[in-house]
Amino acid sequence: MILLTGTAGFIASHIASKLLKNGKSVIGIDNLNNSCDVILKKYRLDQLSNYSNFIFAKVDINNRPSLKKLFEQYNIESVIHLAAMTGVRHSVDNPHVYLETNIKGTLNLLEMMKEHLVKKMLLASSSSLYAGHKMPFNEQLAVNKQISPYAVSKKSAEGLCHCYCHLHGLDVIIYRYFTVYGPAGRPDMSIYRFIKCIDEGLEIELFGDGEQTRDFTYVDDIVNGTIEGLKLSGHHIINLGSGSKPTSINTVIKEIEKLLGKKANIKRNDFQKSDVLATWASISKANELLNWRPTIGITEGIHRTIDWYLKNKQMNQKIALK
Ligand SMILES: NC(=O)c1ccc[n+]([C@@H]2O[C@H](COP(=O)([O-])OP(=O)(O)OC[C@H]3O[C@@H](n4cnc5c(N)ncnc54)[C@H](O)[C@@H]3O)[C@@H](O)[C@H]2O)c1
Repeated sequence: MILLTGTAGFIASHIASKLLKNGKSVIGIDNLNNSCDVILKKYRLDQLSNYSNFIFAKVDINNRPSLKKLFEQYNIESVIHLAAMTGVRHSVDNPHVYLETNIKGTLNLLEMMKEHLVKKMLLASSSSLYAGHKMPFNEQLAVNKQISPYAVSKKSAEGLCHCYCHLHGLDVIIYRYFTVYGPAGRPDMSIYRFIKCIDEGLEIELFGDGEQTRDFTYVDDIVNGTIEGLKLSGHHIINLGSGSKPTSINTVIKEIEKLLGKKANIKRNDFQKSDVLATWASISKANELLNWRPTIGITEGIHRTIDWYLKNKQMNQKIALK
């Protein structure tokens, strides 16, 4: 059985769906916090509820007795660890909960794995670790100058994983994800927010001039790359990004305007110091180790995301943007 943390979250819910379709048994956990509208978390879990090989438990990774019970109760073979406090800007005003969840929560899981002889973890880390480096970012770069508490927490989680590989022989595959988007995505992230605001005629709050760029990566590609890591052993850090030339925020807005046939109403704000200016992944290591290549380009990805948004418009209209 695979333990998947953060299952009510955007990416983990897609990973769960793929694993379940492939016939794997999954125990999904999440504390269902209000980091985004809980309506969306419930919707994501509903999509998984028909699988007989799926169990969901409301468990907080900071609650060690609950984790212990879980590891005692189920025969866990590997852990896919995505539960985290996410959102770079939010971490600036709320650093404690980021460090508590992303560092101590990861430590709690590693300790449980050590105690219960569970050998493999796949960990979600982030492209935000590369702040200040020359692009495209490759995994050999020394990433020592994080610019947000979120990025610091991810760097520390990576460090703990390395330490447990070294000391206790665990296998840990660390993925640095690059701006993931797609159906049932995060309302605090640009693509979901822009679609909703443009569709409903709400103001888009844009930080900076919109010429900052991101290596937007479609969620199905992230899922495929992540799951491939179950076959690897040892310790690896692997970028998962589209690898193609990054796209500016202005370009994304134009594409959404075109597909929805509506104009964006943009309010400009200062660039946030915790944001990175640009991201772009070197993906040769993912190709080499996982035989992985992304398959969905940005135009097709936005198209699919808008399709999902419109099919679920009633629910999406109820979702609050923070
Ligand atoms: N979305 C991206 O572009 C992106 C980029 C880089 C890295 N990541 C990483 O990938 C992972 C998944 O990201 P996502 O975009 O799906 O985020 P998400 O916020 O949608 O999902 C995270 C889930 O973790 C849960 N969670 C938070 N604290 C918890 C706790 N203490 N105990 C149990 N569950 C808890 C939340 O309720 C949420 O459902 C995260 O680790 C994130 O840092 C995401």
